[in-house]
Amino acid sequence: MQNMNSNEPIYQTEALIAEDIHAYLEKHQHKTMLRFITCGSVDDGKSTLIGRLLYDSKMIFEDQLATLEADSKRVGTQGQEIDFALLVDGLAAEREQGITIDVAYRFFATEKRKFIVADTPGHEQYTRNMVTGASTADLAVILIDARKGVLTQTRRHSYLVKLLGIRHIVLAVNKMDLVDYDQASFERIVSDYRDFAQSIGIEAFTAIPISGFKGDNITANSENMPWYQGTALLPHLEAVDVDATADQAKAFRMPVQWVNRPNLDFRGFSGLIAAGAVRPGDAIRVLPSGKTSTIARIVALGGDRDLAVAGESVTLTLADEIDCSRGQVLVAAQAPLEVADQFESTIVWMDEAEMVPGRAYWLKIGTQTVSATVHAPKYEVNVNTQEHLATKTLDLNAIGVANVTTDREIPFAAYADNRDLGGFILIDKMTNRTVAAGMIHFALRRAQNIHWQATDIGREHHAGMKHQKPAVLWLTGLSGSGKSTIANIVEKKLARMNRHTFLLDGDNVRHGLNKDLGFTEADRIENIRRVGEVAKLMTDAGLIVITAFISPFRSERDMVRSMMQPGEFVEVFVDTPLETAESRDVKGLYAKARAGQLKNFTGIDSPYEAPDAPELRIDTTAISAEEAADLIIARLIP
Ligand code: ADX
Repeated sequence: MQNMNSNEPIYQTEALIAEDIHAYLEKHQHKTMLRFITCGSVDDGKSTLIGRLLYDSKMIFEDQLATLEADSKRVGTQGQEIDFALLVDGLAAEREQGITIDVAYRFFATEKRKFIVADTPGHEQYTRNMVTGASTADLAVILIDARKGVLTQTRRHSYLVKLLGIRHIVLAVNKMDLVDYDQASFERIVSDYRDFAQSIGIEAFTAIPISGFKGDNITANSENMPWYQGTALLPHLEAVDVDATADQAKAFRMPVQWVNRPNLDFRGFSGLIAAGAVRPGDAIRVLPSGKTSTIARIVALGGDRDLAVAGESVTLTLADEIDCSRGQVLVAAQAPLEVADQFESTIVWMDEAEMVPGRAYWLKIGTQTVSATVHAPKYEVNVNTQEHLATKTLDLNAIGVANVTTDREIPFAAYADNRDLGGFILIDKMTNRTVAAGMIHFALRRAQNIHWQATDIGREHHAGMKHQKPAVLWLTGLSGSGKSTIANIVEKKLARMNRHTFLLDGDNVRHGLNKDLGFTEADRIENIRRVGEVAKLMTDAGLIVITAFISPFRSERDMVRSMMQPGEFVEVFVDTPLETAESRDVKGLYAKARAGQLKNFTGIDSPYEAPDAPELRIDTTAISAEEAADLIIARLIP
């Protein structure tokens, strides 16, 4: 409104703000940064504490402060005090919209340091939020209500903090004002916590008695607790050593984020240095290929450098033209990383849909994405008591230990040694959702000691002797859809054409190779995995393989497809509506399933996922089995 009466242009305000922000960033950019999380619930005073830190560091914009003061009066906070919880909860409400993983990151700064605090909801079901917020944190503030002491949730939070490898822990015993600033209460809690912390391998923590509400021991030592000799919370956060000095002393590792090739004369490898330091002239190795070279230049924003260290993003050029692409890792030549394709890992499940052992997920580690399967968990951990429980799967927020197999070898470090090189996420291939976070413990020896044996008579030779191109005709559809009938006719016709074939049929394979498998989701996945492997071997032998399995899940059909050579896998959807298959009921199984005598029956109480884009779809209500077989053969031999 003011602008209407002045000669100043309206955009001046905006320009000023931009200038302020610029000046602000200038002023703060050379400070170190501390990323931390706060663990605790609203009841523990978490929002109040965060609000207090923001307020005391003067990082609240003035209009927000005005609203806050007004709001606090409205809700009737006594005296002059501002209800800081209102501030944080208000910010959270703004940000919650559209966020699935509910972590709010807040930024503030003091004269000494910049801070990013990840605020994660404290409730039990939010393990996944905490994992998200904690995965990059240097420090965790674990809040305890001085009146309540160490609770189940304190133990849960501490366990997660330890699991995620957060190096610094502050035990903030809050609400000291409500226990009359009593030293004995504080010390009892610290002693209880120490016993527990040791039992889960937490070696050190800093305990500070505070009141977020009154501001005791937040920015300065409080006169109300003269018995406390340590540092107040904020000065402690300012002083904690988070320099990557420990990481810098380790051997050099840099996952390649991208290959920078602006013209033919320059080829640089860009990425964030995950550990160690690097200088021009250093001998390096590319993993997993193992090729070696030396560093030619370290190219950075302000010009070439003679040293770069962990935590910095750089572009490196090499003395030799060697193959190296995104996802590979540059390491010190004399101290390479391990490379493997089977690992024992801790898995934190973060999706509503439970984990499916044996299913292929995308596994993203460092800058690389590969296909991976998770085996049935060895055990689940009760996060509250740290007990090990037997389980077949992991549900939302469950934490367990399981072996993971990747479809190729990847360079890695144990998560305990390096979070960037040992931490991964799993992504569902169908929904594209991040379903889990994982931490590698170690590689399985088994994987390292089994090598591929090269044989002299290869698949081309086998196929050549049979004068045919191998293929897999994969028939999928409901029970009773007509797969076996059609497959049988196809094989007879091919035999008449002198083709070498083999028919794998669900009912038959389940009498031998797969007689240990039933019809749960996991068993069906394993059924199809084994059949896929057998079909693969048979194509190596030069055969045309015909399979007749319900194979109800898209993921596993796609998995089998990816095992074969391009063009070799022909997915045939035998499309018979459920009503039709059920009315035929050749084996009387639908009747049994309807009567509740047969569990997990496809189409009744177990799903069938129809193919999205099969090579061939056969409408059995429109054509005969004979005609269907002709269509399939026409697709195979045009
Ligand atoms: S799949 O789902 O794992 O691909 P598969 O094709 O091997 O199934 O076996 C299906 C055959 O097993 C059916 O044709 C039927 O004869 C028999 N069967 C027994 N129980 C079930 C069940 N619960 N669901 C489906 N088929 C079953």
